[in-house]
Amino acid sequence: MATATSTPHRPALLGGPPAVTLDQQHANHWPIISDEDERAVLEVLRSGQLSVNDIVTELEQDYCRWLGVAHAVAHCNGTSAILAALHAFGIGPGDEVIVPSATYWASVTPVLHCGGIPVFAESEPQCLGLDPDDVRSRITDRTRAIVVVHLFGMPSRMDELLDIARRHDLRVLEDASHAHGARYHGRPIGTLADAAVFSMQTNKLCPAGEGGMFVTDDADLWEKVVRLGHYERVLGLQSPNRRFAATGFGLKLRMSPLNAAVARVQLSHLPRRNRRRNENVIALSRRLEDLGLQTFLAPQEVERVYFEFLVRYDETAGGLPMSDFVHALTAEGALVERPRYPLLHQQPLFTEGHWAAVARLVATPERALPVYDPHSLPRTETANGSLLKLPSFPRATGPLLDQYALAFEKTLKHADTLPRSTP
Ligand SMILES: Cc1ncc(COP(=O)(O)O)c(C=O)c1O
Repeated sequence: MATATSTPHRPALLGGPPAVTLDQQHANHWPIISDEDERAVLEVLRSGQLSVNDIVTELEQDYCRWLGVAHAVAHCNGTSAILAALHAFGIGPGDEVIVPSATYWASVTPVLHCGGIPVFAESEPQCLGLDPDDVRSRITDRTRAIVVVHLFGMPSRMDELLDIARRHDLRVLEDASHAHGARYHGRPIGTLADAAVFSMQTNKLCPAGEGGMFVTDDADLWEKVVRLGHYERVLGLQSPNRRFAATGFGLKLRMSPLNAAVARVQLSHLPRRNRRRNENVIALSRRLEDLGLQTFLAPQEVERVYFEFLVRYDETAGGLPMSDFVHALTAEGALVERPRYPLLHQQPLFTEGHWAAVARLVATPERALPVYDPHSLPRTETANGSLLKLPSFPRATGPLLDQYALAFEKTLKHADTLPRSTP
């Protein structure tokens, strides 16, 4: 076994030089905003049409062309687009929707605003999406839909999930907020199910600042989404829905044209910027895999993207408890964090029962309401606890990646001698 003093690569915590010394500000800065974005925003500003502007429909057409889908409706954010999709699916009081717990809250909470009941299912360890076997076991005669989240840019196991949905006549929504540009069996993510939603919040791969896109091939779903939150477009519909032109169905969910201007420019750069991230992250992943970390390289049928770069660290194999591992890597100058999504089924909204008031549901003698048990998803809980988030290196070059690999190598090699916070 190597000792701290016998190697030129002594860990920073044991007095060695930090591994990561190159600039990380530029390498990890996101979003990338250029003159092109600025010009596009100025053009909208100068037009004076800051509420309703053709640029929003142009962005929708961009999405339709890019994905090869029939309909797209831009929203003020991804959350509202998810609400609109579930409304269009007809989710109503007491309907059950199977959802992951390991995701951002907006994949789930719109279910409540439709009066529905989220049913949390386990995530699986390879792609981090819903576990098809567990989904199957949670289907009841009240189940109406599944929300699939392609977490961190890794497509979920869609073949199996779509097969379950077909057999049980369930709607499927792809929450593709993290997965702009990912593919599954060659098909773009966002085109595999009944409908999909993309977030365009600042951190996302196609950022607008704030924005969301609903996409579908189903004209009926599209009309329902338009009717719910885009009253100014209802008169343009060719169906009896036109009679709702004065009110829509009561919400106002349209996207701001200034955000659409940014999103159009960002979408045009998406393939090149995704490629650069992918090259960087995959190069580092291979080196981290050699060191024993699981980095979620895509299975064969999948082309994943990297909204975020997560790796799995096994404390037992690595030798250092997770918190000490993070501490040692941070001392090396690496920007590593624990993942930022707390598991949803463990949140007070659910465990303290407030969710029922949001969903306006009350228990009846015929039907009790579910009680959310924070320990009901042991596999998801364990898996989530072993994740570590790294930068996704949108503009990094090889030498910075080498330094990150060195930071991990030093830390793992000296795991036995590095300090522990608890003995
Ligand atoms: C998986 C997922 N779904 C939905 C959303 C909601 O999108 P928005 O923030 O645009 O409302 C997010 C946003 O961060 C997300 O990460």
